[in-house]
Amino acid sequence: MPDTDALPKPMPKRADFGADFLWGCATSSYQIEGAVHEDGRGESIWDRFCATPGHIRDGSSGAVACDHYHRWPQDLDLARSLGVNAYRFSVAWPRIQASGRGKPNAKGLDFYSRLVDGLLERGIQPWATLYHWDLPQALQDAGGWAQRDTVEAFVEYSDLVTRHLGDRVKHWITHNEPWCTAFLGHFEGHHAPGIKSWKTAIQVVHHLLLSHGQAIPVVRRNSAGAQVGITLSLHPIVPASGSAADAAAALRHDGSRNRWFLDPLHGRGYPADVLALLGTNPPTVVPGDLDTIATATDFLGVNYYFPEVVADAPGAGDIATRVVERPGVERTAFGWEVSPQGLVTLLQRIHRDYAPPRLYITENGSTFDDVVQPDGSIRDLQRCSYLARHIEACREAVASGVPLKGYFAWSLLDNFEWAEGYLRRFGITHVDYATQQRTLKASGQWYAQFLHG
Ligand code: FCB
Repeated sequence: MPDTDALPKPMPKRADFGADFLWGCATSSYQIEGAVHEDGRGESIWDRFCATPGHIRDGSSGAVACDHYHRWPQDLDLARSLGVNAYRFSVAWPRIQASGRGKPNAKGLDFYSRLVDGLLERGIQPWATLYHWDLPQALQDAGGWAQRDTVEAFVEYSDLVTRHLGDRVKHWITHNEPWCTAFLGHFEGHHAPGIKSWKTAIQVVHHLLLSHGQAIPVVRRNSAGAQVGITLSLHPIVPASGSAADAAAALRHDGSRNRWFLDPLHGRGYPADVLALLGTNPPTVVPGDLDTIATATDFLGVNYYFPEVVADAPGAGDIATRVVERPGVERTAFGWEVSPQGLVTLLQRIHRDYAPPRLYITENGSTFDDVVQPDGSIRDLQRCSYLARHIEACREAVASGVPLKGYFAWSLLDNFEWAEGYLRRFGITHVDYATQQRTLKASGQWYAQFLHG
Protein backbone atom coordinates (compact mmCIF):
# COMPACT_ATOMS: atom_id res chain seq x y z
CA MET A 1 0.00 0.00 0.00
CA PRO A 2 1.24 3.53 -0.67
CA ASP A 3 2.56 5.49 2.25
CA THR A 4 -0.42 7.78 2.69
CA ASP A 5 1.57 10.05 5.02
CA ALA A 6 3.43 11.22 1.93
CA LEU A 7 0.19 12.24 0.22
CA PRO A 8 -1.49 15.63 0.37
CA LYS A 9 -4.22 16.22 2.95
CA PRO A 10 -7.17 16.32 2.92
CA MET A 11 -7.52 13.29 0.71
CA PRO A 12 -10.50 13.20 -1.59
CA LYS A 13 -13.09 10.54 -0.88
CA ARG A 14 -15.28 8.81 -3.41
CA ALA A 15 -18.28 9.60 -1.21
CA ASP A 16 -17.62 13.33 -1.87
CA PHE A 17 -18.91 12.69 -5.39
CA GLY A 18 -22.38 11.57 -6.41
CA ALA A 19 -23.09 7.84 -6.61
CA ASP A 20 -23.54 8.17 -10.38
CA PHE A 21 -20.13 9.84 -10.92
CA LEU A 22 -18.10 7.70 -13.32
CA TRP A 23 -14.63 6.54 -12.38
CA GLY A 24 -12.55 5.06 -15.11
CA CYS A 25 -9.25 4.47 -16.82
CA ALA A 26 -8.41 5.37 -20.39
CA THR A 27 -6.30 3.67 -23.05
CA SER A 28 -5.98 3.84 -26.83
CA SER A 29 -5.64 1.17 -29.49
CA TYR A 30 -2.21 1.86 -31.00
CA GLN A 31 -0.66 2.49 -27.60
CA ILE A 32 -1.58 -0.87 -26.07
CA GLU A 33 -2.87 -3.44 -28.58
CA GLY A 34 0.18 -4.60 -30.56
CA ALA A 35 -0.75 -7.43 -32.98
CA VAL A 36 -0.44 -5.04 -35.89
CA HIS A 37 -0.39 -7.78 -38.50
CA GLU A 38 -3.10 -9.96 -37.06
CA ASP A 39 -6.59 -10.83 -38.18
CA GLY A 40 -6.56 -8.64 -41.26
CA ARG A 41 -5.51 -5.35 -39.66
CA GLY A 42 -4.20 -2.93 -42.27
CA GLU A 43 -1.28 -0.55 -41.95
CA SER A 44 -1.88 2.64 -39.98
CA ILE A 45 -0.08 5.96 -40.26
CA TRP A 46 1.62 5.18 -36.95
CA ASP A 47 3.08 1.90 -38.27
CA ARG A 48 4.51 3.83 -41.21
CA PHE A 49 5.68 6.79 -39.11
CA CYS A 50 7.48 4.55 -36.58
CA ALA A 51 9.28 2.72 -39.38
CA THR A 52 11.22 5.87 -40.29
CA PRO A 53 14.39 6.22 -38.18
CA GLY A 54 14.47 9.36 -36.08
CA HIS A 55 10.72 9.64 -35.58
CA ILE A 56 10.44 7.73 -32.29
CA ARG A 57 12.92 8.57 -29.54
CA ASP A 58 13.81 4.99 -28.69
CA GLY A 59 13.35 3.71 -32.24
CA SER A 60 10.37 1.61 -31.14
CA SER A 61 6.81 1.19 -32.41
CA GLY A 62 3.44 -0.07 -31.24
CA ALA A 63 3.96 -3.40 -33.02
CA VAL A 64 3.81 -5.30 -29.70
CA ALA A 65 3.12 -2.58 -27.12
CA CYS A 66 1.27 -4.16 -24.16
CA ASP A 67 0.07 -7.09 -26.28
CA HIS A 68 -3.39 -6.12 -25.11
CA TYR A 69 -4.89 -7.68 -28.25
CA HIS A 70 -4.14 -11.05 -26.66
CA ARG A 71 -4.11 -10.14 -22.99
CA TRP A 72 -7.29 -8.08 -22.79
CA PRO A 73 -9.18 -10.45 -20.44
CA GLN A 74 -6.40 -10.09 -17.87
CA ASP A 75 -6.32 -6.32 -18.38
CA LEU A 76 -10.06 -6.06 -17.88
CA ASP A 77 -9.77 -8.16 -14.72
CA LEU A 78 -7.20 -5.67 -13.53
CA ALA A 79 -9.55 -2.78 -14.29
CA ARG A 80 -12.32 -4.52 -12.39
CA SER A 81 -10.05 -5.12 -9.41
CA LEU A 82 -9.42 -1.38 -9.25
CA GLY A 83 -13.12 -0.77 -8.83
CA VAL A 84 -13.65 1.42 -11.92
CA ASN A 85 -17.16 1.55 -13.34
CA ALA A 86 -16.13 2.85 -16.79
CA TYR A 87 -13.32 2.14 -19.24
CA ARG A 88 -12.33 4.24 -22.22
CA PHE A 89 -10.71 2.51 -25.20
CA SER A 90 -10.38 3.35 -28.88
CA VAL A 91 -11.18 1.38 -31.99
CA ALA A 92 -8.34 0.94 -34.49
CA TRP A 93 -9.79 1.96 -37.84
CA PRO A 94 -7.34 -0.28 -39.79
CA ARG A 95 -8.69 -3.32 -37.95
CA ILE A 96 -12.17 -2.50 -39.22
CA GLN A 97 -11.23 -1.41 -42.74
CA ALA A 98 -7.67 -2.33 -43.70
CA SER A 99 -7.55 0.28 -46.43
CA GLY A 100 -9.95 2.72 -44.80
CA ARG A 101 -12.90 2.17 -47.14
CA GLY A 102 -15.36 -0.57 -48.06
CA LYS A 103 -16.41 -3.83 -46.52
CA PRO A 104 -15.67 -4.30 -42.81
CA ASN A 105 -13.25 -6.89 -41.53
CA ALA A 106 -15.33 -9.25 -39.37
CA LYS A 107 -12.35 -10.27 -37.25
CA GLY A 108 -11.63 -6.66 -36.33
CA LEU A 109 -15.22 -6.02 -35.36
CA ASP A 110 -15.29 -9.25 -33.36
CA PHE A 111 -12.28 -8.22 -31.32
CA TYR A 112 -14.03 -5.08 -30.10
CA SER A 113 -17.27 -6.96 -29.66
CA ARG A 114 -15.54 -9.40 -27.29
CA LEU A 115 -13.87 -6.53 -25.48
CA VAL A 116 -17.20 -4.77 -24.98
CA ASP A 117 -18.87 -7.97 -23.77
CA GLY A 118 -15.91 -8.51 -21.44
CA LEU A 119 -16.40 -5.04 -19.97
CA LEU A 120 -20.13 -5.48 -19.52
CA GLU A 121 -19.64 -8.90 -17.88
CA ARG A 122 -17.36 -7.19 -15.37
CA GLY A 123 -19.87 -4.45 -14.67
CA ILE A 124 -17.78 -1.79 -16.44
CA GLN A 125 -19.37 0.77 -18.78
CA PRO A 126 -17.62 0.83 -22.18
CA TRP A 127 -16.62 4.24 -23.55
CA ALA A 128 -15.46 3.94 -27.15
CA THR A 129 -13.39 6.51 -29.01
CA LEU A 130 -13.70 6.16 -32.78
CA TYR A 131 -10.47 7.95 -33.68
CA HIS A 132 -7.42 8.04 -31.46
CA TRP A 133 -4.94 8.78 -34.25
CA ASP A 134 -4.44 5.48 -36.10
CA LEU A 135 -5.64 6.43 -39.57
CA PRO A 136 -5.36 3.69 -42.23
CA GLN A 137 -2.20 4.43 -44.22
CA ALA A 138 -4.11 3.96 -47.49
CA LEU A 139 -6.22 7.01 -46.64
CA GLN A 140 -3.08 8.99 -45.87
CA ASP A 141 -1.70 7.97 -49.26
CA ALA A 142 -4.79 9.61 -50.74
CA GLY A 143 -4.17 12.82 -48.77
CA GLY A 144 -5.41 11.89 -45.27
CA TRP A 145 -7.21 14.46 -43.15
CA ALA A 146 -6.10 17.26 -45.47
CA GLN A 147 -8.57 15.81 -48.00
CA ARG A 148 -12.29 16.31 -47.62
CA ASP A 149 -12.90 12.72 -48.82
CA THR A 150 -11.53 11.47 -45.51
CA VAL A 151 -14.55 13.03 -43.79
CA GLU A 152 -16.84 10.76 -45.78
CA ALA A 153 -14.58 7.79 -45.06
CA PHE A 154 -14.73 8.51 -41.32
CA VAL A 155 -18.52 8.64 -41.39
CA GLU A 156 -18.64 5.31 -43.25
CA TYR A 157 -16.25 3.78 -40.70
CA SER A 158 -18.24 5.22 -37.77
CA ASP A 159 -21.36 3.68 -39.26
CA LEU A 160 -19.74 0.23 -39.43
CA VAL A 161 -18.46 0.37 -35.86
CA THR A 162 -21.60 1.75 -34.28
CA ARG A 163 -23.86 -0.67 -36.18
CA HIS A 164 -21.88 -3.50 -34.68
CA LEU A 165 -21.34 -2.24 -31.15
CA GLY A 166 -24.09 0.36 -30.76
CA ASP A 167 -26.45 -2.05 -29.01
CA ARG A 168 -23.98 -2.36 -26.12
CA VAL A 169 -21.77 0.74 -26.21
CA LYS A 170 -23.78 3.77 -25.13
CA HIS A 171 -20.98 6.33 -24.82
CA TRP A 172 -19.15 7.40 -27.96
CA ILE A 173 -16.31 9.83 -28.48
CA THR A 174 -15.80 10.74 -32.11
CA HIS A 175 -12.28 12.17 -31.93
CA ASN A 176 -9.51 12.29 -29.39
CA GLU A 177 -7.68 15.62 -29.26
CA PRO A 178 -8.04 17.04 -32.76
CA TRP A 179 -5.40 19.65 -31.81
CA CYS A 180 -2.78 16.89 -31.62
CA THR A 181 -3.82 15.23 -34.86
CA ALA A 182 -3.74 18.57 -36.64
CA PHE A 183 -0.81 20.41 -35.11
CA LEU A 184 1.52 17.67 -33.86
CA GLY A 185 0.82 15.57 -36.94
CA HIS A 186 0.64 18.25 -39.66
CA PHE A 187 2.45 21.33 -38.38
CA GLU A 188 5.16 20.31 -35.90
CA GLY A 189 5.49 16.94 -37.63
CA HIS A 190 6.37 15.11 -34.38
CA HIS A 191 3.42 12.79 -34.81
CA ALA A 192 2.16 10.77 -37.76
CA PRO A 193 1.88 11.56 -40.60
CA GLY A 194 4.83 13.89 -39.95
CA ILE A 195 3.76 16.79 -42.16
CA LYS A 196 5.04 20.31 -41.43
CA SER A 197 2.59 22.81 -42.84
CA TRP A 198 0.57 25.31 -40.85
CA LYS A 199 -1.92 25.69 -43.69
CA THR A 200 -2.46 21.92 -43.85
CA ALA A 201 -2.91 21.73 -40.07
CA ILE A 202 -5.62 24.38 -40.19
CA GLN A 203 -7.46 22.51 -42.94
CA VAL A 204 -7.07 19.23 -41.03
CA VAL A 205 -8.80 20.73 -37.98
CA HIS A 206 -11.72 21.67 -40.18
CA HIS A 207 -12.06 18.18 -41.63
CA LEU A 208 -11.75 16.54 -38.21
CA LEU A 209 -14.47 18.74 -36.76
CA LEU A 210 -16.65 18.28 -39.83
CA SER A 211 -16.29 14.50 -39.62
CA HIS A 212 -17.29 14.70 -35.95
CA GLY A 213 -20.45 16.63 -36.83
CA GLN A 214 -21.36 14.35 -39.73
CA ALA A 215 -20.83 11.22 -37.66
CA ILE A 216 -23.08 12.27 -34.77
CA PRO A 217 -26.47 11.44 -36.39
CA VAL A 218 -25.04 8.18 -37.71
CA VAL A 219 -23.89 7.15 -34.24
CA ARG A 220 -27.25 8.13 -32.75
CA ARG A 221 -29.13 6.15 -35.40
CA ASN A 222 -27.11 3.01 -34.68
CA SER A 223 -26.89 3.32 -30.92
CA ALA A 224 -30.28 4.13 -29.45
CA GLY A 225 -30.12 6.40 -26.45
CA ALA A 226 -26.35 6.79 -26.66
CA GLN A 227 -24.44 9.80 -25.40
CA VAL A 228 -22.11 11.21 -28.06
CA GLY A 229 -19.33 13.74 -27.64
CA ILE A 230 -15.82 14.74 -28.60
CA THR A 231 -12.65 14.91 -26.52
CA LEU A 232 -10.44 17.99 -26.68
CA SER A 233 -7.03 18.62 -25.14
CA LEU A 234 -7.54 21.92 -23.35
CA HIS A 235 -5.19 24.14 -21.40
CA PRO A 236 -5.62 27.11 -19.10
CA ILE A 237 -3.50 29.84 -20.70
CA VAL A 238 -1.57 32.17 -18.41
CA PRO A 239 0.25 35.34 -19.56
CA ALA A 240 3.99 35.17 -18.82
CA SER A 241 3.98 38.64 -17.25
CA GLY A 242 1.70 41.52 -16.38
CA SER A 243 2.54 43.31 -19.64
CA ALA A 244 -0.18 44.19 -22.12
CA ALA A 245 1.80 42.43 -24.85
CA ASP A 246 1.85 39.13 -22.95
CA ALA A 247 -1.83 39.46 -22.07
CA ALA A 248 -2.64 39.89 -25.76
CA ALA A 249 -0.39 36.95 -26.60
CA ALA A 250 -2.21 34.76 -24.07
CA LEU A 251 -5.50 35.67 -25.69
CA ARG A 252 -4.20 34.77 -29.17
CA HIS A 253 -2.73 31.54 -27.87
CA ASP A 254 -6.00 30.63 -26.17
CA GLY A 255 -7.61 31.35 -29.52
CA SER A 256 -5.55 28.83 -31.42
CA ARG A 257 -5.25 26.21 -28.64
CA ASN A 258 -8.75 26.24 -27.13
CA ARG A 259 -11.26 28.55 -28.82
CA TRP A 260 -10.38 27.32 -32.32
CA PHE A 261 -12.10 24.08 -31.31
CA LEU A 262 -14.57 25.14 -28.65
CA ASP A 263 -16.11 28.02 -30.61
CA PRO A 264 -17.12 26.14 -33.78
CA LEU A 265 -18.32 23.15 -31.75
CA HIS A 266 -20.61 25.50 -29.84
CA GLY A 267 -22.06 27.25 -32.87
CA ARG A 268 -19.85 30.34 -32.97
CA GLY A 269 -17.75 29.51 -35.99
CA TYR A 270 -13.99 29.96 -35.95
CA PRO A 271 -12.92 32.82 -33.65
CA ALA A 272 -12.64 36.04 -35.62
CA ASP A 273 -9.51 37.26 -33.81
CA VAL A 274 -7.60 34.12 -34.81
CA LEU A 275 -9.04 34.05 -38.33
CA ALA A 276 -7.78 37.61 -38.78
CA LEU A 277 -4.24 36.44 -37.97
CA LEU A 278 -4.25 33.58 -40.43
CA GLY A 279 -3.55 35.74 -43.47
CA THR A 280 -3.21 33.39 -46.41
CA ASN A 281 -3.95 30.33 -44.29
CA PRO A 282 -7.69 30.28 -43.46
CA PRO A 283 -9.42 26.92 -43.82
CA THR A 284 -11.62 26.18 -46.82
CA VAL A 285 -15.12 26.03 -45.38
CA VAL A 286 -18.08 24.97 -47.51
CA PRO A 287 -21.48 26.57 -46.71
CA GLY A 288 -23.26 24.40 -44.16
CA ASP A 289 -20.05 23.01 -42.62
CA LEU A 290 -20.22 25.20 -39.55
CA ASP A 291 -23.80 24.11 -38.83
CA THR A 292 -22.71 20.50 -39.09
CA ILE A 293 -19.78 21.05 -36.74
CA ALA A 294 -22.14 22.66 -34.23
CA THR A 295 -24.44 19.60 -34.11
CA ALA A 296 -25.50 19.25 -30.47
CA THR A 297 -23.58 16.72 -28.38
CA ASP A 298 -24.34 15.12 -25.03
CA PHE A 299 -21.04 15.87 -23.38
CA LEU A 300 -17.63 17.40 -23.84
CA GLY A 301 -14.61 15.24 -23.01
CA VAL A 302 -11.69 17.17 -21.55
CA ASN A 303 -8.15 15.83 -21.51
CA TYR A 304 -6.23 17.87 -19.00
CA TYR A 305 -2.50 17.70 -18.45
CA PHE A 306 -1.00 21.17 -17.92
CA PRO A 307 -1.45 24.93 -18.15
CA GLU A 308 0.54 26.94 -20.69
CA VAL A 309 2.38 30.11 -19.81
CA VAL A 310 2.61 32.33 -22.86
CA ALA A 311 4.70 35.30 -23.93
CA ASP A 312 4.47 37.63 -26.89
CA ALA A 313 6.82 36.52 -29.67
CA PRO A 314 6.64 38.84 -32.68
CA GLY A 315 7.45 36.97 -35.84
CA ALA A 316 6.79 33.50 -34.39
CA GLY A 317 4.31 32.28 -36.97
CA ASP A 318 0.75 33.48 -37.48
CA ILE A 319 -0.09 33.55 -33.77
CA ALA A 320 3.21 35.17 -32.64
CA THR A 321 3.36 33.53 -29.23
CA ARG A 322 5.91 31.50 -27.31
CA VAL A 323 5.31 29.03 -24.48
CA VAL A 324 7.67 29.71 -21.58
CA GLU A 325 8.46 27.78 -18.41
CA ARG A 326 7.33 29.23 -15.11
CA PRO A 327 10.41 28.89 -12.90
CA GLY A 328 10.40 26.80 -9.75
CA VAL A 329 7.13 24.99 -10.31
CA GLU A 330 6.51 21.27 -9.90
CA ARG A 331 6.83 19.33 -13.17
CA THR A 332 6.42 15.78 -14.41
CA ALA A 333 9.31 13.95 -16.07
CA PHE A 334 7.96 15.27 -19.38
CA GLY A 335 8.47 18.82 -18.10
CA TRP A 336 4.73 19.41 -17.95
CA GLU A 337 3.72 21.79 -15.16
CA VAL A 338 1.66 20.15 -12.42
CA SER A 339 -1.32 22.37 -11.66
CA PRO A 340 -4.45 20.88 -10.13
CA GLN A 341 -5.74 24.43 -9.68
CA GLY A 342 -5.44 24.84 -13.45
CA LEU A 343 -7.99 22.06 -13.84
CA VAL A 344 -10.46 23.87 -11.61
CA THR A 345 -9.98 27.10 -13.56
CA LEU A 346 -10.28 25.31 -16.89
CA LEU A 347 -13.49 23.48 -16.00
CA GLN A 348 -15.09 26.62 -14.59
CA ARG A 349 -14.14 28.54 -17.70
CA ILE A 350 -15.59 25.93 -20.08
CA HIS A 351 -18.79 25.81 -18.06
CA ARG A 352 -19.08 29.61 -17.96
CA ASP A 353 -18.21 30.29 -21.58
CA TYR A 354 -19.72 27.27 -23.36
CA ALA A 355 -22.02 25.43 -20.92
CA PRO A 356 -21.84 21.93 -22.45
CA PRO A 357 -24.59 19.76 -20.90
CA ARG A 358 -22.07 17.45 -19.21
CA LEU A 359 -18.32 17.35 -18.85
CA TYR A 360 -16.06 14.36 -18.37
CA ILE A 361 -12.34 14.29 -17.73
CA THR A 362 -11.56 11.70 -20.38
CA GLU A 363 -7.81 11.76 -19.61
CA ASN A 364 -5.61 13.08 -16.83
CA GLY A 365 -2.34 11.62 -15.69
CA SER A 366 1.39 12.01 -15.31
CA THR A 367 4.71 10.48 -16.25
CA PHE A 368 7.54 10.11 -13.77
CA ASP A 369 10.72 8.06 -13.85
CA ASP A 370 9.38 5.04 -12.04
CA VAL A 371 11.84 2.85 -10.18
CA VAL A 372 11.15 -0.84 -9.72
CA GLN A 373 12.21 -1.75 -6.16
CA PRO A 374 14.12 -4.98 -5.48
CA ASP A 375 10.84 -6.49 -4.24
CA GLY A 376 9.20 -5.58 -7.56
CA SER A 377 7.03 -2.78 -6.20
CA ILE A 378 6.79 0.72 -7.73
CA ARG A 379 6.42 3.44 -5.13
CA ASP A 380 5.30 6.24 -7.44
CA LEU A 381 4.28 8.67 -4.74
CA GLN A 382 4.47 11.66 -7.07
CA ARG A 383 1.87 10.05 -9.32
CA CYS A 384 -0.27 9.19 -6.27
CA SER A 385 -0.11 12.80 -5.22
CA TYR A 386 -0.85 14.01 -8.76
CA LEU A 387 -3.90 11.77 -8.97
CA ALA A 388 -5.20 12.68 -5.53
CA ARG A 389 -4.82 16.41 -6.10
CA HIS A 390 -6.47 16.34 -9.52
CA ILE A 391 -9.39 14.35 -8.15
CA GLU A 392 -9.64 16.91 -5.39
CA ALA A 393 -9.69 19.59 -8.10
CA CYS A 394 -12.62 17.77 -9.72
CA ARG A 395 -14.44 17.85 -6.40
CA GLU A 396 -13.84 21.57 -6.14
CA ALA A 397 -15.12 22.13 -9.67
CA VAL A 398 -18.27 20.09 -9.00
CA ALA A 399 -18.86 21.97 -5.73
CA SER A 400 -18.72 25.24 -7.68
CA GLY A 401 -21.48 24.06 -10.03
CA VAL A 402 -19.59 22.54 -12.97
CA PRO A 403 -21.60 19.58 -14.39
CA LEU A 404 -18.61 17.26 -14.30
CA LYS A 405 -19.85 13.68 -14.37
CA GLY A 406 -16.78 11.48 -14.51
CA TYR A 407 -13.01 11.09 -14.41
CA PHE A 408 -10.80 8.73 -16.43
CA ALA A 409 -7.22 8.28 -15.30
CA TRP A 410 -4.61 8.10 -18.04
CA SER A 411 -3.64 5.35 -18.13
CA LEU A 412 -4.56 1.86 -17.00
CA LEU A 413 -1.20 0.60 -18.30
CA ASP A 414 2.21 1.98 -19.16
CA ASN A 415 2.16 2.06 -22.94
CA PHE A 416 3.63 3.30 -26.21
CA GLU A 417 3.81 7.05 -25.71
CA TRP A 418 3.87 8.12 -29.37
CA ALA A 419 7.07 9.97 -30.36
CA GLU A 420 8.55 9.16 -26.92
CA GLY A 421 8.20 5.43 -27.51
CA TYR A 422 8.42 3.45 -24.26
CA LEU A 423 10.53 6.09 -22.49
CA ARG A 424 7.54 7.70 -20.80
CA ARG A 425 5.39 5.72 -18.43
CA PHE A 426 1.93 7.12 -17.67
CA GLY A 427 0.37 3.96 -16.25
CA ILE A 428 -1.03 3.31 -12.81
CA THR A 429 0.08 -0.21 -13.70
CA HIS A 430 3.69 -0.96 -14.57
CA VAL A 431 4.30 -3.05 -17.67
CA ASP A 432 7.53 -5.01 -18.00
CA TYR A 433 7.77 -4.97 -21.80
CA ALA A 434 10.16 -7.96 -21.87
CA THR A 435 7.79 -10.29 -20.01
CA GLN A 436 4.49 -8.38 -20.37
CA GLN A 437 4.06 -8.69 -16.65
CA ARG A 438 1.67 -6.14 -15.13
CA THR A 439 2.33 -4.78 -11.62
CA LEU A 440 -0.01 -2.32 -9.98
CA LYS A 441 1.97 0.73 -8.90
CA ALA A 442 1.35 2.51 -5.59
CA SER A 443 -0.77 4.96 -7.62
CA GLY A 444 -2.95 2.09 -8.85
CA GLN A 445 -3.27 0.87 -5.29
CA TRP A 446 -4.16 4.37 -4.18
CA TYR A 447 -6.85 4.63 -6.90
CA ALA A 448 -8.28 1.24 -5.90
CA GLN A 449 -8.33 2.27 -2.25
CA PHE A 450 -10.06 5.52 -3.18
CA LEU A 451 -12.60 3.70 -5.37
CA HIS A 452 -13.36 1.02 -2.81
CA GLY A 453 -14.02 3.86 -0.36
C1 FCB B 1 -2.68 12.64 -24.70
C2 FCB B 1 -3.08 11.49 -25.61
C3 FCB B 1 -2.83 10.13 -25.01
C4 FCB B 1 -1.53 10.07 -24.24
C5 FCB B 1 -1.45 11.22 -23.25
C6 FCB B 1 -0.21 11.22 -22.40
O1 FCB B 1 -2.42 13.76 -25.46
O2 FCB B 1 -4.44 11.56 -25.93
O3 FCB B 1 -2.87 9.19 -26.06
O4 FCB B 1 -0.48 10.03 -25.09
O5 FCB B 1 -1.53 12.43 -23.95
